[in-house]
Amino acid sequence: MLEVHDLRVSYGPIQAVRGVSFSVAKGEIVALLGANGAGKSSILKAFMGIAPRSAGRISFAGEAVERADTASIVRRGLTLVPEGRRVFSQLSVLENLKIGAAANRQLRGRTLENCERMYALFPKLAERRDQLAGSLSGGEQQMLAIARALMSEPRMLLLDEPSLGLAPNVVDQIFDFLKALQKQDIALLIVEQNAETALDIAARGLVLAQGRIGKEGASAALRADEELQRLYLGAG
Ligand SMILES: Nc1ncnc2c1ncn2[C@@H]1O[C@H](COP(=O)(O)OP(=O)(O)OP(=O)(O)O)[C@@H](O)[C@H]1O
Ligand SMILES: [Mg+2]
Repeated sequence: MLEVHDLRVSYGPIQAVRGVSFSVAKGEIVALLGANGAGKSSILKAFMGIAPRSAGRISFAGEAVERADTASIVRRGLTLVPEGRRVFSQLSVLENLKIGAAANRQLRGRTLENCERMYALFPKLAERRDQLAGSLSGGEQQMLAIARALMSEPRMLLLDEPSLGLAPNVVDQIFDFLKALQKQDIALLIVEQNAETALDIAARGLVLAQGRIGKEGASAALRADEELQRLYLGAG
């Protein structure tokens, strides 16, 4: 589904991503872990064409997209749920959802039907459809950010720290929901500080250190890795 070869992201003199290669298969869930500043968000933003892609190849669904613009990437079926959720606080829940479908003219005819689909998935959003997004709780805003991304009918979602700042029971709800997306064959690449939770639903993990992949492997193997336990999994 997504294949990345030797991706590099530089912000002027700062090399945030220094040659990263990996792939994510159709319907697969992969965790992207690593310390603050390791380059996780830069990788997701580079996929969407919102961080400078200084070198490397990115292919999505068999087509090269390393020069494609954001709207065309969304139309191809790749969407980002950004760090910090970024819902439009001054717009209603419904208006936020409609924005998720805006990049694709072909979807406009299905916008209302897709909104109803989101309300069925997230009943809390249905009750609050006319409420301003800024008045939702953190967990509800995260649900709205995910629902907004799903409005583009993606084949793969990139999620940047979906658990950030949320209570453990809300995190569980959100991850149960993400896991359920697999039944619709939607692939997920999840960036998380909360490594344990991400590895619970992911088949595999990649651990980024200073812009490179330091370790990668099956979730169970990464969980058992002593160095990772010390660094990211909160064990002694
Ligand atoms: N727009 C930018 N301009 C300049 N430097 C940037 C920019 N965005 C990120 N960086 C730098 O690139 C490096 C990687 O940042 P990035 O946000 O990708 O890390 P991250 O792994 O997502 O970190 P965090 O866990 O804190 O979100 C950091 O050193 C950061 O300071
Ligand atoms: Mg980040």
